[in-house]
Amino acid sequence: MKKTKNLLYSLFFVSLLITSCVEKQNKPTIINCENNVSVYYPLDYNKSSHTPSFAILNEPIELPKVTDSSFLKVTFSEFTDRQIAQISFGSNVDLYGTGEVMGDLIRNGKTVKLWNTDNYGYGKDNGQRLYQSHPWVLGVGENGKSFGVIADNTWKMEISLGERITFSSEGPAFRVIVIEKETPQEVMKELGRLTGTIELPPLWSLGFHQCRYSYYPDERVKSLADTMRLKHIPCDVIWMDIDYMQDFKIFTFDSAGFPNPKETNDYLHKNDFKSVWMIDPGIKAEKGFFVYDSGEKINAWVTTRNDSVFLGKVWPGDCVFPDFTQSKVSQWWGGLYENFMKKGIDGVWNDMNEPAVFETQDWTMPDSNNHTGDEYIKNDIHLRYHNVYGMMMVESSRKGILKSNSSKRPFVLTRSNFLGGHRYAATWTGDNNSSMKHLKQSIPMSLNLSLSGQPFNGPDIGGFAGNATAELYAHWIAVGAFYPFSRAHSTKGSISQEPWSFGKEVEIVSREALQRRYRLLPYLYTLFWESSNTGMPVMRPVFFNNPSEKYLRTEQENFLLGSDLLIVPKWSENSQVPPGKWRNVSINGENSLNHKYHPDVLIRPGAIVPLCNTIESTNSFSLDTITLLVSLDTNLSANGILYSDAGEGFQYQDGEFSVIEFFAETKNGISTLRTQIIDGNSFPNDTKINIKLILDDRIVNSFGLIEQTITMKN
Ligand code: NOJ
Repeated sequence: MKKTKNLLYSLFFVSLLITSCVEKQNKPTIINCENNVSVYYPLDYNKSSHTPSFAILNEPIELPKVTDSSFLKVTFSEFTDRQIAQISFGSNVDLYGTGEVMGDLIRNGKTVKLWNTDNYGYGKDNGQRLYQSHPWVLGVGENGKSFGVIADNTWKMEISLGERITFSSEGPAFRVIVIEKETPQEVMKELGRLTGTIELPPLWSLGFHQCRYSYYPDERVKSLADTMRLKHIPCDVIWMDIDYMQDFKIFTFDSAGFPNPKETNDYLHKNDFKSVWMIDPGIKAEKGFFVYDSGEKINAWVTTRNDSVFLGKVWPGDCVFPDFTQSKVSQWWGGLYENFMKKGIDGVWNDMNEPAVFETQDWTMPDSNNHTGDEYIKNDIHLRYHNVYGMMMVESSRKGILKSNSSKRPFVLTRSNFLGGHRYAATWTGDNNSSMKHLKQSIPMSLNLSLSGQPFNGPDIGGFAGNATAELYAHWIAVGAFYPFSRAHSTKGSISQEPWSFGKEVEIVSREALQRRYRLLPYLYTLFWESSNTGMPVMRPVFFNNPSEKYLRTEQENFLLGSDLLIVPKWSENSQVPPGKWRNVSINGENSLNHKYHPDVLIRPGAIVPLCNTIESTNSFSLDTITLLVSLDTNLSANGILYSDAGEGFQYQDGEFSVIEFFAETKNGISTLRTQIIDGNSFPNDTKINIKLILDDRIVNSFGLIEQTITMKN
């Protein structure tokens, strides 16, 4: 016993000695910037090791005077071969963000690894490193006062959230950007200003997506589409996974299964569907294959430390990997989409872009691999560019897709990404399991992705790995109808996981769930518009309603869609609802209160939520009739906003859009509703308005035309 004690003492002193020898503290240079942003530079900061910044699109604007008024303290140190930045923030602060990881919504006490990893079933490292990296933490203090911290660094890193926030990185010293605001919402908006916001997505991408690894051959795709329509399941998009390719060669089509992709897409379009097709970064290293040959000509590949071309195994066998740090490669890659998109393809799915490399120790390429770079992005090793490989890929894809058809909004879905990568692609949360655990986990995971600047996200509905049961699928689709990105997907060899695969009851649940989503499209699209303007998430934690209410901070089963709807899953326990009279609403005639699966949808007091008619595809989307769910607050008033445009293309940038505000109030038992165009074009004056005034014990229905004052007797 004594011996062990002595040994422990000596270990302690040796470690102290080592610490004092190798830990170099250094005092940061602080640059105060506009909007309560401060940038902290360590003494030995070398700009060329970190520029261009991948996360920051708009550099903070420096103020002339330095005023270190921050309540946060940032210190830098170097410990053996690691660069450390620590941020002290006082006590009683709840931490969020850190991107896509397993675990609770609140991140205090957690350690997250920033190393993009193909993590099947979230099994590796307990899911503490997944497909994306977000060196970002949001802190919310007791009274709601909030801050955000960005470590502007792409190198392999770890974030530990203890008494302090510690970023510990393998690369050179990096800068830290701190945002301080009165509310978490203001922090999110500032994050949006710095990193840029999403581009407005095409309306069809907000519909329901049906995917499987893989629908093969084309006849199966067509019959899937037919069944969707036959069974009146609202759906907009059918997805093509890798088996459509010839021998897994990207930008090719399997001659037996998909001999005429244009005709397949035409068929889908005729039936009001869009199609999304997969493209991976691994390119079969085979002379005569046009993608390989054209890339070879420009030395497009990532190389090894010895300057030979790096070969790694993925689906097609030995592959080469585009080196997106070179602009010429990025342009070449983008150009490959021209003929591809001409086949009538509507959207692109970039997968495996961590990059995943089979039969290697850590399922990726060696840290020492070489990225050639150019005048914009510096030549460096993979350790620096690994976490942004996927982001560079989707930036190149997006630009290429846009060039191939400049009148359409590109839609790209990516598995791997980095803070700021929401500018180029939507995301899903990779290979989850068909389990109740992963269904429940999907809420805090999507919320933290949303709080890390990625609003357009969602998990595989039904679960990817394993087989869903009827019970699980019904719960999942019922909640999944409210994810910002709503797509069902499942792995090869799993049982069928379509809305009708589990019998009549689940088919009905699926139809009703998706009908709820489709009726909410005007509201949902308005939220995406808001997000594209301000950086506000679409899916929000419940505490956003009232950031100073401590009891809401841990709620991770219920979530907010925008600020006006609260989604309460049927499996939610001890569910926390924000203060005030949130009323249960029926979106499409359903009664969720007595339902086994449909989550309750509660409307905020003081909100007006716009709905469209029931449709099965966004091709039939129309605002000829707008239904308004009205819930008065204690002042007996309510208001709401509706944004609308063509749902596709860029004419909205030339003023082809409308923003309309609705106001309702009740005086002396008479309620009135007024509408006002606050920006853009007016609506046709024969637009019909259906009002559903939701009172405690009943609903008062009323009708009228837009821009008329409509009165109702309560
Ligand atoms: C891995 C992806 O995560 C999964 O969604 C996809 O089905 C497979 N790759 C096959 O492409």
